[in-house]
Amino acid sequence: MLTTRELQDEILRLKKEKNICILVHAYQSHDIWEVADYVGDSYGLSVEAAKTDADTVIMCGVRFMAETVKMLSPEKKVLLANPIAGCPMADQYSGSDLRELKKDYPGYAVVAYINTTSDTKTEADVCVTSSSALKIVKNMPEQDILFMPDPNLGAWVRDMCPEKNIALIKGGCPTHLRVTKLEAELAKKEHPEALLLVHPECRPEVTALADYAGSTTGIMKYAKESDAKEFIIGTEYSIVQHLQFECPDKTFYALSSDLICQNMKMTTLGDVYRSCLGTGGDEILMSDELIAAARKPIDRMIELGG
Ligand code: 13P
Ligand code: SF4
Repeated sequence: MLTTRELQDEILRLKKEKNICILVHAYQSHDIWEVADYVGDSYGLSVEAAKTDADTVIMCGVRFMAETVKMLSPEKKVLLANPIAGCPMADQYSGSDLRELKKDYPGYAVVAYINTTSDTKTEADVCVTSSSALKIVKNMPEQDILFMPDPNLGAWVRDMCPEKNIALIKGGCPTHLRVTKLEAELAKKEHPEALLLVHPECRPEVTALADYAGSTTGIMKYAKESDAKEFIIGTEYSIVQHLQFECPDKTFYALSSDLICQNMKMTTLGDVYRSCLGTGGDEILMSDELIAAARKPIDRMIELGG
């Protein structure tokens, strides 16, 4: 039997020996954070994926993130550490669903959240992440925008970008959608000194009660830099845990006990170890045609997002 520390040391040794880069989404567990080359939100992961010079990239997160890495670094071997970790929101609309939907919005530019499959991205004009959505939509020359698939993130952008005509559709993150306005009101009542920090995937009536709304990285940065001592965290529960390590003198409360993404919780340190060994993970394989078509909105995201 190995301890967590011993398993981590083996991963670090293999990573160096085989020139592997481990990219970790902020919702992963802390034992995985500790072996990462980079930890961050979806936007930061895309930027890192484009610039790594490793031979192999292991993505600890969900499938659309590993696909994004492959599109940005097609010459590299890209592994999703846990083969069944997917994002239910990304599976809400296929490429053909979006093709049909576009018929109802002639002349609209399609803004697709990065939480979409590569097939869906082939029908989009630009991708956005939670941290880049507002800036990108503001920078787009187009006036009429179809924002998909998350209407909550879309409504948050629309509120701050009234100069654009933004159409929204049904969809969203099943994890963040579970949080209710009542839970937010009760949490604020229970912790009157705490600031409420939420992810814009939450319902608009929850985000409206927040002191800050932003991406996973944005929430962590805000909590670290704030003079406040208590925070209610309205995103995946892992962020509550990580913030305790980053700011041991501050107190963090979960907005809801339901804020757990089962898919983000799939990946274990053992998955990372086996991916490094070459006996685990799922290699992302995509045709050149698919990469060329699905990469266009991602390149535009990086171009408009700066
Ligand atoms: P960000 O990492 O961009 O904040 O997105 C959160 C998320 O739900 C990823 O699946
Ligand atoms: Fe998808 Fe929501 Fe989980 Fe993020 S938190 S991976 S959007 S289901």
